[in-house]
Amino acid sequence: DRVRDRLTLLEETDSTNRYLLERTAMASFPGSVCLAEAQVHGRGRRGRAWIATPYHNLLLSMGWRFASGPGIVAGLSLAAGVALTRVFEEYGVPGVGLKWPNDVLWDDKKLAGVLVDVHGEATGPSLIVLGVGVNGYIGSHDAAQIDQPWTDLHTITGKPVDRNRLAALVLRELRHMFEVFADKGLAAFRDAWQRRHRYHGQRVRLLAGSREITGTVEGIDDHGALLLRDARGVQAFHSGEISLRRVA
Ligand code: BTN
Repeated sequence: DRVRDRLTLLEETDSTNRYLLERTAMASFPGSVCLAEAQVHGRGRRGRAWIATPYHNLLLSMGWRFASGPGIVAGLSLAAGVALTRVFEEYGVPGVGLKWPNDVLWDDKKLAGVLVDVHGEATGPSLIVLGVGVNGYIGSHDAAQIDQPWTDLHTITGKPVDRNRLAALVLRELRHMFEVFADKGLAAFRDAWQRRHRYHGQRVRLLAGSREITGTVEGIDDHGALLLRDARGVQAFHSGEISLRRVA
């Protein structure tokens, strides 16, 4: 049970990230892609499920190999956010923004998400599986299960979604992003990321476990940590169980 082709299109799988992760040993792994029409256990960040109406959305994962250790994951997921905003601009949906760490938003509602899984030792190399879910069209039955503000391309454009074109754009941008990231790291994406961050310069509340911090968003550092200024100065927050809210 190995991936023979570089691109695998499945009618249904548990999760495209998992599908590729289970096949990380094979030599052709970097650049391997898995697309599925439906996921039985689609995974989102922070232990959430990723809900998508079968045959109407984009569910894909791409593998890559990096010489460095798994510490790059946070930065990589932010760079992927920038890549996705470029995809939507090219697709014809301008005005797509980001919310730290890597929610892709339109009108403050989630349009796409990124989930990065990694295999590797601290010193490297790391095998990365980067999963992307884009909301093309979410039926009402599925919509009822989504526990955060969301939107889909069908709602935004009022037109049928060209998933083939969208998939091609995503794969092209991700491949380019991986190459640039391997060379220059998050630094190459930082300005673009900050320009697209919907919360840049704004006052926010960070919920980190039982802690709550209010401050002004100053940007991100080279590792993708959020820089927040409060009375004590600037602090860096790493993703994980942290959630960001706008202060009215
Ligand atoms: C998020 O919560 O924002 C991340 C969502 C990532 C969903 C995609 S769909 C394709 C890939 N396979 C998964 O199980 N998850 C990712």
